[in-house]
Amino acid sequence: MAPSSSIPPTEKRLPPGPKTLMPGGHLLPILRNPIGFLTRLSREYGDRVHFKVRGTDAFFFNDPELLKEVLITQNASFEKGPLLKNARMLLGDGLLTSEGEVHLRQRRLCQPAFQPRNLGVYADPMVECAAAFREEWAEGAEVDVSQEMMRLTLTTVGRTLFNAEVKSEAEEIGEMLTHSIRMLNLLGYPFASLLLRLPLPARKTFERNKARLDSLIYRMIQDRRERPHDRRDLLAVLLRASEADEYGGMSDQQLRDEAITIFLAGHETMATSLTWTWYLLSQNPEAEANLHAEIDAVLGDRLPGYEDLERLTYTNRVFAESLRVYPPAWALARQAMCDVEIGGYAVPAGSLVIMSQWVMHHDPRFFPDPDRFDPDRWTPELKEQLPRFAYFPFGGGPRNCIGEGFAWMEGTLLLATLAQRWRPLLVPGHRVAVQPLITLRAKHGMRMILERR
Ligand code: HEM
Repeated sequence: MAPSSSIPPTEKRLPPGPKTLMPGGHLLPILRNPIGFLTRLSREYGDRVHFKVRGTDAFFFNDPELLKEVLITQNASFEKGPLLKNARMLLGDGLLTSEGEVHLRQRRLCQPAFQPRNLGVYADPMVECAAAFREEWAEGAEVDVSQEMMRLTLTTVGRTLFNAEVKSEAEEIGEMLTHSIRMLNLLGYPFASLLLRLPLPARKTFERNKARLDSLIYRMIQDRRERPHDRRDLLAVLLRASEADEYGGMSDQQLRDEAITIFLAGHETMATSLTWTWYLLSQNPEAEANLHAEIDAVLGDRLPGYEDLERLTYTNRVFAESLRVYPPAWALARQAMCDVEIGGYAVPAGSLVIMSQWVMHHDPRFFPDPDRFDPDRWTPELKEQLPRFAYFPFGGGPRNCIGEGFAWMEGTLLLATLAQRWRPLLVPGHRVAVQPLITLRAKHGMRMILERR
């Protein structure tokens, strides 16, 4: 592939970066404080950084042009990084974790469920979930908003994916997924995968959860196969799409993998982004007042619907700015399957390439005063000027988030429905810190007091 004109010809030397004699390379600083480590690298070494992790070459790129190379132009030369490979233990060959031909085919089959013209059917169930949820909140109550948002987005994705009648089961699925994901996070640590092969309690709980999850999901699939036409949820859409497929549709195993993947990818990220949004609003009274003014003007006292989305522009900007300041997917990793050339550097087969939404979204070259929460910065002009990968909360290229449109709609509708009635205020003295697990969680939760509007 000929390099683009802005990229110098292949250099055999490596980009600059920190050196260490520690046996695991820079594994420990990455595990201890990954965001701090990556931020420091970008400040000290710039856009192209090299370091070692457990003997493997790692390249950390912060130039939007290079991200385009990795995620779009040369995407076929990369596969997912080690953390997502480990997630196969739970997600099997679903969209997030599959590769190559399997991924291509599954993506094609799932796409209809997420096409803009089909998204409208999910709007009412989403708003119904949020409307019922806001009735459960009580004036003056102190809650952990991060748990509340998990509960809400779990119910929402459970409802849109599996239909309302399985609400209690959807919650159970969510809990089991949360436990399983905690365990998958541990797999980053040295010797963890070895430990997990042993019959230890954590491993046994994981297996038990997985078996229960499988039986629940297979039962729902069976139910849809027997009564295919009386549901309009996502699983029904997937089934219909797969039945029309020239290769004979999806097997139950494949449907199971997709359902668990979408359930997980769809609720965890949404809950994280909404949690940070409430926090940011509580710290920025002017933005909060603007949000309330828009909601009152557009909706008055009625609930929002699909057709309101285009008028809830400030609400949408609040969500966009929250995804910038606290991106739920805070970094992406890829592993080179063959020798490739990126940005003029030779990246050997097996190398890791790391790209971080957190670092890029806080880069003052693209976002002046980057730590400031400023929904008004999202003017049409900014969107036009920004390089494609200066803002990438949903990734990019053939592996971008299939649920992006769904997420914009859900974020805007849930925010509008809740903010219409409630104003969560941070409990004085509550410690707020990020915890970069698979998503960017709030380390100490988010304790807030509910004030009725
Ligand atoms: C704020 C919310 C969300 C964020 C920030 C987010 C972010 C992302 C990112 C960054 C990726 C790419 C991962 C990679 O390249 O390794 C991704 C993939 C994916 N997301 Fe999302 N996501 C969100 C919501 C959703 C929702 C609501 C759904 C489903 C209902 C969903 C389903 C998926 C799936 C299935 C993939 C894998 C796509 C593929 O590889 O073909 N996501 N998401």
